[in-house]
Amino acid sequence: MTRVKGIAGQSLRHESAIKQVMGRADYTDDIVMPEGALHAYLGLSQIAAGRIVAMDLGAVEAAPGVVGVLTAKDVPGVNDISPTGRHDEPVFATERVEFHGQALFAVVATSRDAARRAAELASVDYAPEAHVTDVAEALAAGYPHVTEPLTLRRGDAEAALAAAPKRIKGQVRIGGQDHMYLEGHIALALPGEDETVEVWSSTQHPSEAQHMVAHVLGVPSNAVVVNVRRMGGGFGGKESQMNLFCAVAAMAAKRWDVAVKIRPDRDQDMIATGKRHDFLVDYDVGFDDTGRILAVDGEFAARCGWSSDLSGPVTDRALFHADNAYFYPAVALRSRPMKTNTVSNTAFRGFGGPQGVVAAERMIEEVAYALGRDPLEIRKANFYGVHGDVTPYHQTVEDNIMPRIVEELEASAEYAARRAAVLDHNAKGGVRRRGIALTPVKFGISFTATWYNQAGALLHIYNDGSLMLNHGGTEMGQGLNTKVAQVVADAFQVDVDTVRITKTTTEKVPNTSATAASSGSDLNGMAALDACAQIKARLVSWAAETWGVAEEAVRFADNQVHVGDEVLPFAEFIKRAYMARVHLSAAGFYKTPKIHWNRDTGQGRPFYYFAYGAAVSEITIDTLTGEYTVDRVDVLHDVGRSLNPVIDKGQVEGAFVQGMGWLTTEELWWDDDGRLRTHAPSTYKIPLASDMPKDFNVRLADWSENAERTIKRSKAVGEPPFMLGISVFEALSMAVASVADYTTCPRLDAPATPERVLMAVERLRR
Ligand code: MTE
Ligand code: MOS
Repeated sequence: MTRVKGIAGQSLRHESAIKQVMGRADYTDDIVMPEGALHAYLGLSQIAAGRIVAMDLGAVEAAPGVVGVLTAKDVPGVNDISPTGRHDEPVFATERVEFHGQALFAVVATSRDAARRAAELASVDYAPEAHVTDVAEALAAGYPHVTEPLTLRRGDAEAALAAAPKRIKGQVRIGGQDHMYLEGHIALALPGEDETVEVWSSTQHPSEAQHMVAHVLGVPSNAVVVNVRRMGGGFGGKESQMNLFCAVAAMAAKRWDVAVKIRPDRDQDMIATGKRHDFLVDYDVGFDDTGRILAVDGEFAARCGWSSDLSGPVTDRALFHADNAYFYPAVALRSRPMKTNTVSNTAFRGFGGPQGVVAAERMIEEVAYALGRDPLEIRKANFYGVHGDVTPYHQTVEDNIMPRIVEELEASAEYAARRAAVLDHNAKGGVRRRGIALTPVKFGISFTATWYNQAGALLHIYNDGSLMLNHGGTEMGQGLNTKVAQVVADAFQVDVDTVRITKTTTEKVPNTSATAASSGSDLNGMAALDACAQIKARLVSWAAETWGVAEEAVRFADNQVHVGDEVLPFAEFIKRAYMARVHLSAAGFYKTPKIHWNRDTGQGRPFYYFAYGAAVSEITIDTLTGEYTVDRVDVLHDVGRSLNPVIDKGQVEGAFVQGMGWLTTEELWWDDDGRLRTHAPSTYKIPLASDMPKDFNVRLADWSENAERTIKRSKAVGEPPFMLGISVFEALSMAVASVADYTTCPRLDAPATPERVLMAVERLRR
C-alpha cells in the first residue's frame, strides 16, 4: 500500500466540496468590485421576428443611476459573436430581430437594480413579420438550414428497406432542455492600460471568450485576458453562450474606463441563452422475423434557433449516435439543422448524442412490439459484434464491452425475474401499471472537430517543494481539477495537498479548447502528465549525474526521492535541484492520436474510443392521472480504470437524474407569439432530491480499462451516463403499452410528462 495521499485511482473528495457547502468557494459574483464599478443589463426584443423601425432609448438613459447605453453602433470592432465564424450572430440586433429575447442594447448604471429597471423603459417600434418556433412548422414553411446538413451512409438503405420482410415507419418528437446551472451567466470586465482588458466569467471556454472580446473590441487577442476560477455548473450552456455577456462587459468597461459587471436574472438567462435542441425524428426501419435490423433510414430535424451557434456539430453528433450500440447493415441518416425564430440552441450534455440514442431505442421498441418480444432480446440481437462492427460513419467498433456490461447488469438487477413480476402485475389490469426497461449506451469520445482535441498545461515546482499547475480546462463541478491534481501527485508520488491547481486563465495556457465533449481529464490530464514528465526527466538526469548513479536508480516514492541508497524528502530534493539551477517549470502539451474525420465523405474515425454503460429502470404509472414514480434504478457504467471512483460515481448519478429530467418533467413551452413561457423554476420542473429513484444502485465496471493509452487508462465520464435516463422513458412506454396488451408501440413523445403519459394511455384505450 502506498502512503501517498490522493494519487490517481484513489477516491478523493472533490477539492472544493467543503468550500462549496460552507459557502466559501469563490465565484465571479464574489469578486470584490473596484471603486466606481458599474453594472450592465440587457434590453431584449419583444417580438419573435421583424424589422426594427425605431428604437428610442431616451427614457432608459434618463432613468435614475443610468450612465449610458450600448447598441450595435457602439461596437468598436465587429458586431459578431458567432462561435464558428459564420458571422450570423450579432452582439446587438441591427435592422432585424430574429427571436423574442434577442439582445437589442445594454444599459449601464451605478447598480444592477437600476440597470435592470431602466432596461424595461425602452420604446421600440417594430414591423413584425411571420415567425416560426417549432421544427415541424419550420420544415413545412421551407425555412432554411442554419448550417450545412450532414449525411451518413453505408450500403444501400433504400434497397435493403424495400427488400426487408418487415418495415416500420414512425416519428418521435424529442423536447429540449434548459441547463438550469445553479450559477447563471456572468461577466466582470476590468479595463487595463492601453487597449487591454481582463474579464472574469463563468465560461467553459475562456479562449473563445478571449477571441470574441478581442474581435468585438477590434483589438488583438493579446490585449484580452479571460479568467475562470470555477463555474456553478455549465452542462454545455457556457460553451458559447457567455460570449454575449463577456463582450458586453468588456465593451462597457473600455467605454467608461471602469469595471463593469453583467449578471442577468434567471428569467433573462433562460430567455436569452440557448438550450438543448428539440428534435423531430422520422425513421424507417427494416427487419426480419428474428428481430434482426436490416436497414435504417432516419431524418433528424432540429430546432436550432435563429443562428448557427454550435448546431452543426450538435446535429452531426445526433447522427453519430443514431446507431447507439447497434449494427445497421444498411443505413442512411440525414440531419436537418432548421432555423427557427427561437433562442439559438447550443451544447448540452451529450451534445445531440442523446437525441440520436432516443431514436435508436425507439426503433428497437418498434421492432420488439411488432414481434411481441422483450425489447432487451432485440437489443442484444443487434449489438455491434453480433452481425457486424462498422458504424454508419465507417469507424470500426474495436473495444466492444457492451455485451458484458449488459449481461452483468441483467444478472445483478435480476432483470428477468422482475420483468416477469411486472408482466404479472399488469396482467391483473389495475389502475396502476408498472414498466421495466434495460437500455444501453455507447458514446463516442473526442471532439468531432479534430483540431479541438489538444490541450496544454503549465507546471511550476517552487523551491519549497510545492507544485502549482495550470491547465486549459475549466472546473464546473465535474471534478476536473481534483483529477488533474491526482495525476500530478501520482507522477511525483507526493501527497495531493502539495499540488495547487489555480484558476484557468488565457494568460498561462493559450489556445485552449472548451472544457466539453467529456474530454476534460483525457486532454488536460495528459498535458499535465507531459509537463510532469519533462521536469522529472531533468530532475532524474541531474540527480543521476550528481550522485553518480544510473538514472534508473532515481525513484519518486512515498513523498520522497530515492537516489541510489540515499533517500531525501521531496521538498529537500527540490531545494537541492533549485540550488543546482535545474529548470523547475514546464509547459506540457497533448493531442489525441488516431482520430480523423472527413465530413464531406461522412467517413473517418471521429472517436478515439467509446464509453459504455447500461441501466435498468422500473417505474409505476397511474393510468387515471398519468402520474408516475421511479421505483428502482440499477446502473453499470464503464469509466475504464477510474481516476477517482467516488467522483465518477457522482457524475454517473448526476447525469442519470439529469437525463431522466430531460425525458420526463422538463418541458419548454413557447406561446403563439414566440415567447418562451417556461423561464423560471416555477414553470420549468427539474428533478428534485425527492424525485431521485427510491432505490438507486450505481456501480462502475471496475474490471474495465481503456484499450487506448488514455490518462491512466481511464475513460471520459461527463456525458455518457446522461443517456442512461432513457431507461426511464422506455419503462414508461412499457407501462403505457400494457393497457393495450403490448400490441402496439406507444407514441410517447419526450418529455413524457404526466399529461403526455395520460394522453398516450387514453389513445391506446380508444
Ligand atoms: N458535472 C457537473 N457537476 N457540472 C457540470 O456543469 N457538465 C457536464 C459534465 N459533468 C457538468 C458536469 C458536461 S456537459 C461535460 S462535457 C463534462 O462534465 C465536462 O467536463 P469533463 O470533460 O472534465 O468531464
Ligand atoms: Mo458538454 S455539452 O460537451 O459541455
